[in-house]
Amino acid sequence: MSKRILVVGNWKMNPATLEEARTIIRKVRHAATELSHTDVVMCPPFIFIAAGSHRTDSSSHTYLGAQSVSSHREEGSYTGEVGIHMLRDMEVQYVIAGHSEERARGLNDVEVSRRVAAIVHEGLTAIVCVGEHVRDEGGVYLDTLKEQIKNSLADVPVKSAKDVVIAYEPVWAIGAQQAMNPEQVYEMVLFVKKVFADLFGQDIAMKMKVLYGGAVNAENAADIIRIGKADGLLVGRESIRPEGFAELLKAVDTISDK
Ligand code: 13P
Repeated sequence: MSKRILVVGNWKMNPATLEEARTIIRKVRHAATELSHTDVVMCPPFIFIAAGSHRTDSSSHTYLGAQSVSSHREEGSYTGEVGIHMLRDMEVQYVIAGHSEERARGLNDVEVSRRVAAIVHEGLTAIVCVGEHVRDEGGVYLDTLKEQIKNSLADVPVKSAKDVVIAYEPVWAIGAQQAMNPEQVYEMVLFVKKVFADLFGQDIAMKMKVLYGGAVNAENAADIIRIGKADGLLVGRESIRPEGFAELLKAVDTISDK
């Protein structure tokens, strides 16, 4: 086992109540105590993050993440924003940047790149989401993806590239019934690593993690890691169903040849 597997749960705008959020956190942490090779990150909505902070037990490899962050590094007059220092104070260690659902609401690469820079500047890990909307036979989507990766990382200094995880999420697979097949995932993982190597060098690219996201569940998760050679997963719907998520975690953790 060379690298630990990273499974990130993106709760999106769920659940409706603090009580439900507490229950999910408790159950996922419990499930994670059974794992040996897997790190688990829960990304609740901002308002529920504190429910997972300041824990007294540290037995399982679970971490807190946020779904977004302001690109303004210092506190100030930015109504509605949440800053990186606030997240750090809540013991958040991972922050998602550039999820396609935020991009669909107008977030562009320039702003994504500023956010990523703010995240890594504070020593947190940025989970940078990229992915094509559609695939064309001519492979133009690969050029688009390459540009998206480059532009989303434009403000990241080479020394901080080690704190960047790329989550490849083809937009057409998000919320879908079926995930991308593992063979295709493998091609895309290699592609992302190649782009990363061109930007930051081969050594960093060898150590980086590429996650796959889009319709991941307990049935397909292990093959995406084993055949797709993804270094981890970014999970939406299944991450707020603790029983299904526990099964998913178990399935990926038992892959021994990764
Ligand atoms: P689903 O797992 O619900 O398809 O969502 C994927 C996603 O967008 C995770 O960020």
